Amino acid sequence: MPEPIIRFQDVHKWYSGVHALKGVTLDIYPNEALGLVGDNGAGKSTLINILSGTESRSSGEITLEGKPINFATPRQAMDRGIETIYQYNSMVPSMSIARNMFIGREPLKMSIGGIGWLDQERMRSESVSAIADVDLHLRSPDAIVGELSGGQRQGVAIARAMHFKSKVMILDEPTNHISVKETQKVIGFVRSLKDQSITSVFISHNMHHVFDCCDRVVAMRLGEIVMDKRIEETSIEEVSNIL
Ligand SMILES: Nc1ncnc2c1ncn2[C@@H]1O[C@H](COP(=O)(O)OP(=O)(O)OP(=O)(O)O)[C@@H](O)[C@H]1O
Ligand SMILES: [Mg+2]
Repeated sequence: MPEPIIRFQDVHKWYSGVHALKGVTLDIYPNEALGLVGDNGAGKSTLINILSGTESRSSGEITLEGKPINFATPRQAMDRGIETIYQYNSMVPSMSIARNMFIGREPLKMSIGGIGWLDQERMRSESVSAIADVDLHLRSPDAIVGELSGGQRQGVAIARAMHFKSKVMILDEPTNHISVKETQKVIGFVRSLKDQSITSVFISHNMHHVFDCCDRVVAMRLGEIVMDKRIEETSIEEVSNIL
C-alpha cells in the first residue's frame, strides 16, 4: 500500500447545535478516484469543504502528503494543489473563459514604471490549449462563462485544474442539473484524471455515476462513515441499502 495522500483523523464538525461530522477517519491514496456517497445531510460536503478551505473543522487532524494542513481559504488549498469543482460557484459567470482559467493566478506583464498589466494574450493562448487538452470544444477563450452550459462550465473548471497540475480534485455533485450527454462528458473527465495522476473525490447521489468512474466507494450516514469498499468488492444494491 502506498502512503495516503490525504488523511482525515477523527475529524469532528459542529455547526452550533448540529454535529455534522462525528469523528471521521479516512485515508485517500494517490491517484485513486474515491466516490463519496450518502443521503442529504450525511456530511459529505462538510467533509470536503474542510479539506478545500471553505469550512473549518471543530477538532481532528488532516494531513496532505504527511504534513498537517488547516486551510483558512480555498486559495490556500489551491496553492497546495487541491482544486474543488461545484456545480455553480467554481467560476465567475460574468468573466470570460480565459479570465476564469487564471482567476487568482493572473500572469502579469511588466510595463514602464513597474505597473503590472494582465497578460491577456498569454491567458487566452494557454486557455485554448488547456481546453483542447481536455477535449472540450468551445468557440473562443473570450466567451463569457455565464453563457456556457453546465457541462461546459464543468469542463472549463476541470481544464483549469489540469492546467495548474492539481494533485487532488474534489467534485461535489458536478453532474447536478446537466444533461445526460454532458454528464457522460464529466464522468469521462473524472476517469481521465487517473491518467494525469490526479487523485479525485467525486460526490454524487447517482450510484451509476459513482460506479462508472470511481475505484472505491465511501458511504456516509449522519456524520459517520458506514461503508468503505473497492468498487469491485461491492454493488450498487449493497451501497444503496446501507444509506
Ligand atoms: N453552514 C451550515 N450551518 C449549519 N448547519 C449546516 C451547515 N452546512 C451544513 N450543515 C448541516 O450539517 C449536516 C451535513 O450537511 P452537508 O451539507 O455536509 O451534507 P451532504 O452530505 O453534503 O448533503 P447533500 O447530499 O444534501 O449535499 C446537515 O445536518 C446540515 O444541515
Ligand atoms: Mg452536499
